[in-house]
Amino acid sequence: MKNRRVQRPHPTNNGVGRDRRARRTRSDSMKSPSEIRFLITAGPTREFIDPIRFISNRSSGKMGYALAEAARALSPHVVLVSGPTELARPKDVEFVPVTTTQEMADAVLARYDHCDVSIMAAAVCDFRPKTTATQKIKKTKLGGTLELEPTIDILAELGKRKKSQTLVGFAAETEDIEANALDKLQRKHLDLIIANDTRAFESDTNAVTLIGRNGKPERLPEMSKTKVAAVIIQRVLGLRR
Ligand code: CTP
Repeated sequence: MKNRRVQRPHPTNNGVGRDRRARRTRSDSMKSPSEIRFLITAGPTREFIDPIRFISNRSSGKMGYALAEAARALSPHVVLVSGPTELARPKDVEFVPVTTTQEMADAVLARYDHCDVSIMAAAVCDFRPKTTATQKIKKTKLGGTLELEPTIDILAELGKRKKSQTLVGFAAETEDIEANALDKLQRKHLDLIIANDTRAFESDTNAVTLIGRNGKPERLPEMSKTKVAAVIIQRVLGLRR
């Protein structure tokens, strides 16, 4: 325990940064960008009603794939955990295809301890059918109600387990976008949240607002998802300095 550095909260910062999970060792912040290990999720998940039918979320995966490419431009250590999309796999990243929320959670949680930056851009299904039929449900047998149960909130789980990782989430909102995003940032112990207008779904462009732990919104103009990804990665590097 000799020479152990004890980090105390700054007396004037109103508790921002006091979160024990947000502490970072000196060696983490001294990593060069090419040493940073990124873990990124993208695309939708699917929850099956029967072998033919599923419920899912609107998501092309474009934002998450652009983030993986932007991270790869800096570092060879990029893992992309992706739900089903139509996109080509980014080159030279470790690609982990998944379908359900639980599969995505298993893939992410198994890798979380070994990553420095986690960016959860996937449009994860919050609910799944209580039962999945093994055979196609015939039309005549379909009742009027589909019973659902919640799935695991991967991002919240990462927030709970956070040690020195930089944790980034997205907030897909239709109203009170910034207030809801800030609430999510605090509840899930994130370092950065990207508030996403749902009108950007499937589009090649996006107008997002970045909110860090100081709560100050950085509103970016509408730009390509490739450019948005580059800005997000730059802000993440800034947070780690
Ligand atoms: N997310 C996740 N696991 C879930 C649901 C969401 O990891 N089961 C992540 C998404 O990848 C995104 C963030 O959490 O980074 C916010 O997702 P969003 O759907 O906007 O928020 P929810 O937490 O589901 O809250 P609500 O539905 O109340 O808006």
